[in-house]
Amino acid sequence: KTYRLAIVPGDGIGHEIIPAALTVLEAAAKKFDFKLDYTFYGWGAGRYLKEGAFMPEDGLDTLKGFDAVFFGAVGLTEVDDTLPAKLYTFKVRTTFQQYVNYRPVKLFNGLESPLRNKTSQEIDFVVIRENNEGEFVQSGAFFRPESPEGLATDTSIFTRKGIERVAHFAFKLAQKRKKKVTNVTKSNTLIHSLKYWDEVIAEVGEQYKDVKLEKMYIDNTSANFILHPEYFDVILTTNLFGDILSDLGGGIMGSLGLGGSGNINPEKEFPSMFEPIHGSAPDIAGKGIANPVGTIWSGALLLEHLGESAAAEEIVRAIEAVFQKGIKTIDLGGTAGTEEFATQVIQALNQ
Ligand code: NAI
Ligand code: MG
Repeated sequence: KTYRLAIVPGDGIGHEIIPAALTVLEAAAKKFDFKLDYTFYGWGAGRYLKEGAFMPEDGLDTLKGFDAVFFGAVGLTEVDDTLPAKLYTFKVRTTFQQYVNYRPVKLFNGLESPLRNKTSQEIDFVVIRENNEGEFVQSGAFFRPESPEGLATDTSIFTRKGIERVAHFAFKLAQKRKKKVTNVTKSNTLIHSLKYWDEVIAEVGEQYKDVKLEKMYIDNTSANFILHPEYFDVILTTNLFGDILSDLGGGIMGSLGLGGSGNINPEKEFPSMFEPIHGSAPDIAGKGIANPVGTIWSGALLLEHLGESAAAEEIVRAIEAVFQKGIKTIDLGGTAGTEEFATQVIQALNQ
């Protein structure tokens, strides 16, 4: 079987972590007897500097023909930081109805969490971030009127359809895990939008009697991530809160460089896009030291989405085996570079 992938390394460390992760996916393809046929696209802030656009006008049409998109990160210090989401990331996520942002958090065996005494059994949950609307909807609702005092607003948009579909995904996922959904909200102060969010989630929850649904405010949740990560199973939350909580998840795993993610269109009507949770890390770009694990893990999620679950599992196992040998990248206090780490993962995969 052959899968067609669009590869968008993006900017900064994207040019290092994506090629490294691809060598691992290639090795998995060989071992599990499928083929990857991929095309690279040089899109991002770098292209914007040269040509005035992150991607060509027909960029989205181009992506439509692929089974999945494998993405690094976009953004350069020379380019206005409001543009990457507006001109690439958010565009792909919304156009392709990738309304689920799937972000697993787990402590790999062989690594130590910065949280004292927490084991890998205790840090193992998934953040499901609503990925198409909410606080990040950049649909012209943005408002900055002339005002002598100075004034700016952003509008959040939550729709029944948007909440229901991501909630169904979260409950179904919980059914396959520890059967608990924590709705992370702030409806005590965002009394219109998030109150509605809570109501719709509770309604959907009625249809999943075997799953326990509870509500937790985002501020308290942040403390509980640090104090009681073992408490969580599936976290269901909004676009902004999910963005922040998943980086906090990266923190408790040991590094932002470890987190993988999928922007998923569960109906498979459109391609889904897989990317590490972090950005283009301009501070370490070009040095060959970026941690490729978040990207390799994203690649594993991509394969799982395409139906190659065994390969996906083996990749995660191989990452863990490398950590258990004591090999770590610099952000984790080790010495391995990007390519070196990927090579170790391939060796572990073939063992
Ligand atoms: P960042 O995630 O790029 O970096 C934050 C810190 O984590 C930096 O110190 C960086 O060196 C470190 N880090 C990140 N990934 C790492 C890895 N794989 N290995 C080792 N260390 C790693 O976030 P920041 O600095 O806020 O943003 C940098 C640029 O990335 C900006 O232009 C921002 O807009 C963009 N960005 C893009 C995203 C995307 O394309 N999906 C997501 C987040 C940020
Ligand atoms: Mg983020």
